[in-house]
Amino acid sequence: MFNKRIKIKELLNSEPQEQQETVMGWVRTFRNNQFIALNDGSTNNNLQVVLELGKFDEDLLKRITTSASLKVTGTVIPSLGKGQKLELKADTVEILGDSDAEKYPLQPKKHSLEFLREKAHLRFRTNTFGAIFRIRHSLAFAIHKFFNDKGFVYLHTPIVTASDAEGAGEMFRVTTLPFDNPPRLDDGSVDFTEDFFGRSTNLTVSGQLEGELGATAFGEIYTFGPTFRAENSNTARHLAEFWMIEPEMAFCDLEDNMNLAEEFIQYIIRYAMDHNADDLEFLRQRLLDEEKQKPQAERSELDLIQKLQFVTENKFERITYTEAIDILLQSPAYKKKKFQYEVKWGIDMQSEHERYLVEKHFKKPVIVTNYPKEIKAFYMRQNEDGKTVAAMDILAPGIGEIVGGSQREERMDKLTERMKEMHIPAEELWWYLDTRRFGTVPHAGFGLGFERMVQFVTGMGNIRDVIAFPRTPKNAEF
Ligand code: 4AD
Ligand code: MG
Repeated sequence: MFNKRIKIKELLNSEPQEQQETVMGWVRTFRNNQFIALNDGSTNNNLQVVLELGKFDEDLLKRITTSASLKVTGTVIPSLGKGQKLELKADTVEILGDSDAEKYPLQPKKHSLEFLREKAHLRFRTNTFGAIFRIRHSLAFAIHKFFNDKGFVYLHTPIVTASDAEGAGEMFRVTTLPFDNPPRLDDGSVDFTEDFFGRSTNLTVSGQLEGELGATAFGEIYTFGPTFRAENSNTARHLAEFWMIEPEMAFCDLEDNMNLAEEFIQYIIRYAMDHNADDLEFLRQRLLDEEKQKPQAERSELDLIQKLQFVTENKFERITYTEAIDILLQSPAYKKKKFQYEVKWGIDMQSEHERYLVEKHFKKPVIVTNYPKEIKAFYMRQNEDGKTVAAMDILAPGIGEIVGGSQREERMDKLTERMKEMHIPAEELWWYLDTRRFGTVPHAGFGLGFERMVQFVTGMGNIRDVIAFPRTPKNAEF
């Protein structure tokens, strides 16, 4: 009867009235053969379980080791200990699973994040990762709630696809053909028509193009799923497998798109603040401890919670790409040659440029619009100037690009012309072009990188620490 247990979070929020309760969890520490700090993953706050001296036999006490799993039934009583309202006076203790403390890789002390990345299979059992992944869960839930409340349809776009939505060619190939001796065409190239899918396929880099099919029927859809990019970048912001949320809206222009993205980001942050106050407080403290290691001048002005509060209460800055380049060209950083990469109209801004804009210049999230068409995807709507497209990227302090989006090119002639210029074969995207053939409408959408959002909310510096099983170059053990 496992469902008779109470979760420790719920128990800690109740009043101690000598009620009988059963809890189950893992031992964090066991002191003086008397006090067990028990954790069940519902909160970072451990339940203190008190064993009356002499009541339990020695053999059982020996088996209460760090990370052993227990079932404890007892009486909930007020606690005299500091910082805890109640504790559980044990009547029965049952060992569900033993743990050899000598071999258990985690000690009851603070481990470095690097160390924990190597122990990724156990790191959920630490306070830091407990907090991060409960917040990640809340954000995911808030995302569905936000779009559901607005009447968007959740569309499941394919993972295996033949399309390269971003045209960037960073795809993982998927094939059922044998590697050692695949069927070949006369010219020696692999014959993908013999494949299970009848053609060359890859893991999706974005669900957007299929999302547009949904939006031009349902009006408003969103996707929320795994996305794959075979880019060989080892940075604190890139994963080979990440999750993306892609809303797509018919009857929507660039401004509507920006308004929705801003409202959405503010909503999900506020949701986490309202539902994960304990975990955010834990991470706030953690960051403050980290900041103390830095020289005064480099410490951030706001703590994690103040930062989140600020972002939910203030409008994002909105500037054009051309204005952004002008700001960079006039910046002290540029004049003192502090940028590693070149700054001029037409560049794809590097993270140092984006971070200058948000962290030094505006000190808030910034939406940059109307990028040069050369550095953006084929589907973005062309502006009247002939040089720019109706794109928008949202840049966040500490992260850089967190959202990429645009109004889409709904005019068939302009779209096919651009595809030709970019050598994208119209035959392969016939199904996509049908949206423009049969009742085309102005429409727009964006993609939020979920892990970058989780990084922003938790304040974690490395993207590998906000996804359960990070996939980065040479890293896919389990
Ligand atoms: O800017 P991106 O490439 O845009 C698209 O894929 C569009 N189809 C979105 C749309 O309009 N529906 O990616 C969108 C976001 C980025 O802003 C970034 O936050 C995240 O996805 N992202 C990554 N996150 C982690 N690791 C990577 N390798 C990422 N690449 C993009
Ligand atoms: Mg982008």
